[in-house]
Amino acid sequence: MAIAQSFIDTLKTSCDIETVISGYLPLKRQGRNLVGLCPFHSEKTPSMVVYTDTQSFHCFGCGTGGDVITFVMKMENLGYIEALKFLAERNGIPFPEEGRNDPSLDLKPLIYEINRTAARYYHEMLKSEAGKKGLDYLTDRGLTSKTIVKYGLGFAPEGWSNLKNYLRKKGFTEEQMLKAAVLTRGKNQNSYDLFRNRIIFPIIDLRKNVIGFGGRVLDDSKPKYLNSPDTPVFKKSRNLFSLNFAKIAASQRLILAEGYMDVISIHQAGFENAVATLGTALTPEQCRLISQYTKEVVIAYDSDGAGRNATDRAMALLKDVGVETKILSIPDAKDPDEYIKKFGAKRFSLLIEGSDNVIDYRLSLFRKKYDLSTADGLAGYLNESVEYLSKVESPIEREVYAGYLAKETGILKETVLSNIHVHRRRNQKRNQKESWKKIQNDRAAFRDRLNPKRGANLTAALAEEGIIAFLFQHSDYLTYVLSKINKSSFITELNRELFCILTEKLQNNNSVTLIDFSGDLPPEKLSRFSEIIAVNNEIPKTKQVLDDYIRTLLGQQYKNISQRVGELSDQELYDAIEQIKKEKK
Ligand code: CTP
Ligand code: MN
Repeated sequence: MAIAQSFIDTLKTSCDIETVISGYLPLKRQGRNLVGLCPFHSEKTPSMVVYTDTQSFHCFGCGTGGDVITFVMKMENLGYIEALKFLAERNGIPFPEEGRNDPSLDLKPLIYEINRTAARYYHEMLKSEAGKKGLDYLTDRGLTSKTIVKYGLGFAPEGWSNLKNYLRKKGFTEEQMLKAAVLTRGKNQNSYDLFRNRIIFPIIDLRKNVIGFGGRVLDDSKPKYLNSPDTPVFKKSRNLFSLNFAKIAASQRLILAEGYMDVISIHQAGFENAVATLGTALTPEQCRLISQYTKEVVIAYDSDGAGRNATDRAMALLKDVGVETKILSIPDAKDPDEYIKKFGAKRFSLLIEGSDNVIDYRLSLFRKKYDLSTADGLAGYLNESVEYLSKVESPIEREVYAGYLAKETGILKETVLSNIHVHRRRNQKRNQKESWKKIQNDRAAFRDRLNPKRGANLTAALAEEGIIAFLFQHSDYLTYVLSKINKSSFITELNRELFCILTEKLQNNNSVTLIDFSGDLPPEKLSRFSEIIAVNNEIPKTKQVLDDYIRTLLGQQYKNISQRVGELSDQELYDAIEQIKKEKK
């Protein structure tokens, strides 16, 4: 990692962790530190702490932590160098030249060029004799030529190497085409066109680059859709189909559909603000992207069971990023495309206007489940609804819906409300218990993997971590600490490694903030390091505390040796005891 230290130093002083993180999520001050909802797992109460004095962050819920670089790496899904570059660019710091030879960066313009050329080829084919059946198919499905041109739809003709030959004539090599993933390799290593005899949907990003393709068969053969695999320019989890068109119209609201054809139909019906995921379920990254363009999403998924499950998931994810959701129920059609074809654009727009908010949607699902004309059915409906409403955060909404329920079922509103209240208290207790258990479990599992001996040597490990955290903040104790212990005093491996790196930096008079370790430690270990600093942050840093840690560690070491007596040779045992005696003085 040949990045000049001077560059990292400049970056470090210019990128305040508080400023960077609060660009992604709201932070609240809590004493010396700041807290916020962790963006790396789903949570309702904030467990991510940002430490401005050590320029680090740590989530006590999921164990993620590190410095400003680690944060950006995770948040933007970037590699180390890319994250440096990202921060440098944002802060107007010139990036040192030698960092530029990340090969995937050079490849991108080439892949864009190949994709654009391929998209043009497919589009030309659609207008040619060979593509007539493709054009007929799209026309049959009701698309106008204006829509076809606007979306740049195309056709990949039958045959194994039509595109390959075309691109070769344009000067691209087979190797390059494989990188762009317009070709694929068979078992015998021969390469051939990925898309054959399919309608082509080019996927275009916000900068108008063609980043990938979806391809649909013309009949019932399988797979119905084939999508480009991820490439250096295409990450399915981070892009949305048609966002290039939707972003302008999205300020009011965005319509989220399941597939390419739905989006295009909705678009043709007059709504430019529709997008779809790219053959995978909605991801948190896509939700963050959505939240940059709009405050409200109408989920217009298929009306089948799979669609309902996907709707549930999407509602939860969108809630996490603070986007308001509405849910479109599509009566008498399986998806928006079919609905528009059957009933027309006008009625579709009424459907959109009348889409349910999350609570209405839920209650309507409960209502469908029960027969409200029987006492049992009514009780079942009430119970589920009350249980659900007890989880609604807004007291106003709880009040309003309690009123609806009361009217609908003929029960007193006060009764409904007091039932909601009982459920709420129960939930609160359960949540507290569960989140505590989860934190414990997560941390136990996380620990064992990185520092395997920690569990069996917890007392020693805690002392080791206390010493590391102490030294990190009070480097003036370095000489003192080293007069008492050295790296062989450490029992757990990871802590020993951290101790070595830390003391070495201090001995070389290097400054130590967490950011300085990002070059020495992989993100996982850096994250642990920051956790150690964070967890020990509030412990008073007096010499007495330090001495306690040292005494505990040495005492544990003796215990550790006495447990291993059977494995040691006489000489080793003798040496070890002498060493301990010396250290204890
Ligand atoms: N999909 C996929 N691979 C499949 C099936 C579906 O990637 N084998 C993705 C596609 O992005 C598709 C979306 O899931 O657009 C929705 O699938 P489906 O509901 O089956 O397709 P429709 O959008 O209804 O497509 P059509 O109307 O063309 O049948
Ligand atoms: Mn469909």
